[in-house]
Amino acid sequence: MRAVIRAGDQPGRIGFDDVDEPVPAPDEAVIAVRAFSVNRGELSLLEIRPDGWRPGQDVAGEIVVAAADGSGPPVGARVVARADQAGWAERVAVPTDRIAVLPDAVSFEQAATLPIAGLTALRSLRMGGPLLGNRVMVTGAGGGVGRFAVELAVDAGARVTAVGHPADELRALGAAEVVPEVEAVEAGLALVVDAVGGPVLTASVKRCRPGGTVVLVGAVTQEPATLRLWDFGGHGVSITSFFSAMTGARDDEDLGTLVGLIAEGRLHPHISHLADWSELAETLDLLRNRKLGGGKAVLTIS
Ligand SMILES: NC(=O)c1ccc[n+]([C@@H]2O[C@H](COP(=O)([O-])OP(=O)(O)OC[C@H]3O[C@@H](n4cnc5c(N)ncnc54)[C@H](OP(=O)(O)O)[C@@H]3O)[C@@H](O)[C@H]2O)c1
Repeated sequence: MRAVIRAGDQPGRIGFDDVDEPVPAPDEAVIAVRAFSVNRGELSLLEIRPDGWRPGQDVAGEIVVAAADGSGPPVGARVVARADQAGWAERVAVPTDRIAVLPDAVSFEQAATLPIAGLTALRSLRMGGPLLGNRVMVTGAGGGVGRFAVELAVDAGARVTAVGHPADELRALGAAEVVPEVEAVEAGLALVVDAVGGPVLTASVKRCRPGGTVVLVGAVTQEPATLRLWDFGGHGVSITSFFSAMTGARDDEDLGTLVGLIAEGRLHPHISHLADWSELAETLDLLRNRKLGGGKAVLTIS
């Protein structure tokens, strides 16, 4: 079958190769991938992994081999899944506790936006406790994680400040306030989901109410954060980290929640770039150079 491999000397650091079919473990199903999305973390991995390494985490498609242990969806089911790697391929084996079945109303392209960005948004918001009536700020709000975080926080009853652009699109997701810089935000935040880091992290901490939480999910800026005691917004403000690959949680239920919200019209994946996977190298360059206009890039395999 055809698959994407890391190829350091090629455009986008990727190439296509013929590889062996996946051999599933007893608790794994094989998915024929119809759509996948790309994440900023994969750009970093393509820089450091050896040639031949196979990237790809966010996949949606059809089950072609059900798990031998009887778990998970049957052959023919339409699904979304979070793979560890090797998902940018015609077929991939994934543990069934990372696979959710798609409602008819949810397309493969929409579903492919969810695994890394959607799970990160959902789970980082949960780290802030109950959101109903509380002020939540999302930085990097126009990006893949940010847009999901804004809309999920609004759905949970928070008053959301989005730091990012475009303002009209973020307001359409329910943000009560959209600002270009954290400096424009009043203090009193219960929770910040910070996808940017560096000076933005420092400014976020300053604007937390006592007992508030900053969940650091990203580092789109490589600048370090400087923090002194008096930078904190009060007593008991905490900074915590989120790593999607290290939560230890099973993904099927949360992916099921996210696709259910899409089917109900409560979550709207923003696909800013849709192309055939033959255009993957160009797409990765657009992501690398911040030319995707926010939202998610989705590639399809026909
Ligand atoms: N912890 C985890 O498990 C996890 C999971 C997913 C993602 N992440 C990380 O989270 C971050 C966001 O991911 P994403 O998928 O949402 O990326 P993305 O779609 O590229 O979005 C990044 C957003 O940040 C903005 N931005 C870029 N550079 C900035 C800067 N210097 N200052 C302020 N804003 C800036 C971008 O605006 P422009 O449109 O102007 O570029 C965009 O809105 C990345 O660092 C990613 O690696 C972590």
